[in-house]
Amino acid sequence: MFIKSIQNEERRGINMKDKLKKIMDTAIEQIDATEQLDKLNDIKVVFLGKKGELTSLLKSMKDLAPEDRPKAGQMVNEARAKIEGKLEAKKKEFEKALLEEKLASEKIDVTLPGTKLPEGHRHPGNITLEEVENIFIGMGYKVVEGPEIEKDYYNFEALNIPADHPAKDEQDTFYITQDILLRTQTSSVQVHEMEKGELPIRMIAPGRVFRSDEMDATHSPTFHQIEGLVVDKGITFADLKGTLQEFAKRLFGEETKIKFRPHHFQFTEPSAEVDVSCFKCGGKGCRFCKGSGWVEILGCGMVHPHVLEMSGINPEEYSGFAFGVGLERIALFKYEIDDMRLLYENDTRFLKQF
Ligand code: DAH
Repeated sequence: MFIKSIQNEERRGINMKDKLKKIMDTAIEQIDATEQLDKLNDIKVVFLGKKGELTSLLKSMKDLAPEDRPKAGQMVNEARAKIEGKLEAKKKEFEKALLEEKLASEKIDVTLPGTKLPEGHRHPGNITLEEVENIFIGMGYKVVEGPEIEKDYYNFEALNIPADHPAKDEQDTFYITQDILLRTQTSSVQVHEMEKGELPIRMIAPGRVFRSDEMDATHSPTFHQIEGLVVDKGITFADLKGTLQEFAKRLFGEETKIKFRPHHFQFTEPSAEVDVSCFKCGGKGCRFCKGSGWVEILGCGMVHPHVLEMSGINPEEYSGFAFGVGLERIALFKYEIDDMRLLYENDTRFLKQF
């Protein structure tokens, strides 16, 4: 009985050894033959997993004699460690190959030309605006802004243009309601500034304006103006002339002359339009000044006493002058551009020339 049992156990032991060897050989063979990293995990499950080959062998140990179990257990553990080691080594091999492949394919050639990002360019309108701003800042003016969506009151009424006045016909615009519109002139900013009641005033107000106009080489339904306003005690037409003469010289060159032509604006009295001598031909006449030697650049005048009054300024005490310049007009002239539409298309081939 005793002998038989030993023989049995020995046979089982040998059996177990054989089985273990077989499991190990197959596992290692399979690991060696694997060609994909993720297959390694499948192999791990098959051999080392909870329901794997080694685990079931371990479970069958209960059939062994108790004194043989530690030895058998040790053998199984050694086998597990070997398979694990082999799996790990194979995994490293894969990872190394993968990294090498990646490094080879991602090689950076530092001698290749870089990718150029498309580069924009400052707009001639902005370049001109900045120049005008700098000229007036240099003369002690501040730069202010007003709303593009404006009340009829600021755009017309407070500038001496009451309802049904024919002057409104020339400045038709988009009405949001009967009282709210897209401003047709930056002159509206004069009113906002005067209403603040902080005197004296020396301001310019650049901004976008809107009119019901068809687009062509010299017109656009939206364009830009720069408004100017000075209100102080004792301001005269001589101050206006001196200021604009200085402005024209700084913008177009020392030789530039200016000419005042009488005109009519509702909110100034007297009013004038100002021409500058053509800096291209020096006044002889060329294609830019259409042969006349002069180019019209702005409207101006002495602020109408009623306009001062409506905004709460006493015209007996204060007087002022105002002017309005078309930004596009001076940019076109300054840069010899003969079609206004080019200013709105933002084609960099055009913009890069300035
Ligand atoms: N707002 C006028 C226009 O758009 C231009 C203008 C003329 C502005 C005379 C002024 C000014 O400030 O005094 O036609």
